[in-house]
Amino acid sequence: MRIALAKESAPGEARVALVPELIAGLSAAGYELAVQPGAGEGAMITDDAYRLAGATVTEEFLAGAALVIGVQPLPADLAGTLPAGTATLSFFPYVDDGDAVRIRRDAGITTFAMDLVPRISRAQAMDALTSQAMVAGYRGAIVAAGMLRQFFPMSMTAAGTVPPAQVVVLGAGVAGLQAIATARRLGAVVKGYDVRPAAAEEIASLGAIPIDLELPPLDGAGGYAREMSAERARQQQEKLAPYLAAADAVITTAAVPNRRAPVLITKTMAAAMKPDSVIIDLAADSGGNVEGVEAGAVTRLGPARLWGGHNVPSQLPGPASRLYAQNVANVITLLTRDSSFAPDYADEIVAGMCLTRDGKITHPPAAELFEDTQVVARNE
Ligand code: NAI
Repeated sequence: MRIALAKESAPGEARVALVPELIAGLSAAGYELAVQPGAGEGAMITDDAYRLAGATVTEEFLAGAALVIGVQPLPADLAGTLPAGTATLSFFPYVDDGDAVRIRRDAGITTFAMDLVPRISRAQAMDALTSQAMVAGYRGAIVAAGMLRQFFPMSMTAAGTVPPAQVVVLGAGVAGLQAIATARRLGAVVKGYDVRPAAAEEIASLGAIPIDLELPPLDGAGGYAREMSAERARQQQEKLAPYLAAADAVITTAAVPNRRAPVLITKTMAAAMKPDSVIIDLAADSGGNVEGVEAGAVTRLGPARLWGGHNVPSQLPGPASRLYAQNVANVITLLTRDSSFAPDYADEIVAGMCLTRDGKITHPPAAELFEDTQVVARNE
């Protein structure tokens, strides 16, 4: 049974879905690996490294593949030509791309989405949203330290004391907690805020100071945050403003599943920040936590410089790829029975991450959005 590793084609995507270290394990599980030439280039992995690990590197990588793996979805023009019944495994942010979902449905492709892996304990080793958020959080803190024209740690020298940087992290999920831990390791004084009360303890356990705005909590289903009402957003912004005014660097990571990221910092709030302070918005790709942020650009927002993150995990392609590839290999193991590719749809992880199969959209929220036409018969 063949697994094909596709070279990423999305602009700026440097990660790769499989690393050579994992090939021996997949071979032992009964798979043969076909790698598109140059697949690992962005992550500094050569074709020879894949060959040495036992993979075949070939332009015909898709021929006979039961499963095609990637980081971003295989482009629709390729996916639409795969034989019916072929499976793909990658991130699949379907909300803005109904056509990609319909093309797969109509081609009879089985689509597994890494971003739909349920957030349950048994699935933790397959949870690529977590592994990539961890990379983004680390990178966010490092970018803040690099951009800030000041020390992060306090330094006491014969020539006097250099005060530590004051860092505020908004949103303390996976990315935020990693940003807090990294900024702390660099010696900054860190404060953290989240709308979920459970986050306060985690913030404190990393040596940071939890910010209590004395607002009602906003925790919702599955341990995620709920969306803010306009009034709640206004109150939160007003109460956060003094913390921002006192900060040298602010890192924002707030998100609400399947919603645009909440706006936590307005232009008016930024106007009261210190001269040359820095804001790192890790939510820029999903609309941004900062008013006017541009994903992939550094802009000026009043006295602050604002860094809009764009595909931030891809900026550390080596470790991000290694972690993602391990998540992928763990999913493949789950999809394997007796040395063959045999997804068990009675398993809640398998069912949960399946977006299309047998000519149907199988993920209910996606079906609700895109199932406007039904395939009645296949014309093969
Ligand atoms: P996320 O990326 O959806 O959101 C990031 C953070 O933003 C969250 O902590 C959220 O509470 C916060 N947030 C939302 N609106 C906000 C606002 N208006 N102001 C300030 N903060 C706001 O979340 P992530 O990082 O993916 O994880 C969130 C939850 O999922 C946590 O409870 C975490 O423990 C849980 N989780 C469970 C896993 C598992 O069981 N396998 C794996 C990863 C996370």
